[in-house]
Amino acid sequence: MKRKIIIDCDPGIDDSLAIMLALSHPDIEVVGITIVEGNCPVEMGFENAKKVLKFMNRLDVPIYVGAHQPLKREYINALDTHGSDGLGESFLDSVAGYEQDMDALSFYSHILRQEQCSVIAIGPLTNIAQLIQQDKEAYDRIDTLISMGGCYKSHGNCSPVAEYNYWCDPDAAQIVYNAGKEVHMVGLDVTRQIVLTPELLENMKQRNAYVGDFVEKITKFYFKFHLEWEHLVGCVINDPLAVAYFIDPSICSGFSSYVQIETQSISIGQSIVDDHSFYRKPSNAYVLTQVDVDKFFDLFFTCLLENIHECEKN
Ligand code: RIB
Ligand code: CA
Repeated sequence: MKRKIIIDCDPGIDDSLAIMLALSHPDIEVVGITIVEGNCPVEMGFENAKKVLKFMNRLDVPIYVGAHQPLKREYINALDTHGSDGLGESFLDSVAGYEQDMDALSFYSHILRQEQCSVIAIGPLTNIAQLIQQDKEAYDRIDTLISMGGCYKSHGNCSPVAEYNYWCDPDAAQIVYNAGKEVHMVGLDVTRQIVLTPELLENMKQRNAYVGDFVEKITKFYFKFHLEWEHLVGCVINDPLAVAYFIDPSICSGFSSYVQIETQSISIGQSIVDDHSFYRKPSNAYVLTQVDVDKFFDLFFTCLLENIHECEKN
């Protein structure tokens, strides 16, 4: 039996790599992709998801448009990091049509009553928060909820203490952490260790030119961004780790804790991990702190390089 997932994302360069990993793993069935505002405006994210599915020859996977802006905060995109097209200025051909007959929330309400699904959220949590507000029964039916977001001991990437997905919509993140379901928090503490280096990219190109060239096309902007702003030779690919952790939880380890998201003040978007139980609240999250980087790349490369091939031009 394949494990069914919904990927809620803001594609986004690393979101695209996460989608590729999920679609290329034999034991995973992506029943739908929902788009949320984040790295890029939601309509651009919808277009980018189509481009990735076209590359994967998987336009059978439905994509649903979700929230256009955060619950309360003014929407601030991350196009400075992901390029003006949201996909590393690869400017891939657009894919016509593919409009769905419902929006993301309607899809969640429908599918969660039909199937046992997990949700891998790799963008701001606006869609998930709205699902909680509008259809808590459906939300409660989610099997496992994984969120790429937040940080524990690692510094933020939008402020000294805040990571983008929770900083972009802190109110949504707080609603999700308060909703009674354990959130597997795949934060910067572990994702920062997942660095696609020029050597690894060259290895990908040698082993599978079709995939390697595509990855190079969508990450070249990202490499430049990381060199300029983080003085890093390589790029941090956060989102695929959330998918890899779902596939093989032994890739990461962590601890259960109460987590609260700051929604005001200078530390807005901070994920406050109460690791010493000062607040005496029950745990609502499993916070990842360790990652086996080699194990991640073994899985990532095996799936992408051995299971994705150019389809015969029909
Ligand atoms: O902070 C990194 C996260 O924010 C990643 O999911 C990236 O795609 C952006 O959404
Ligand atoms: Ca993302």
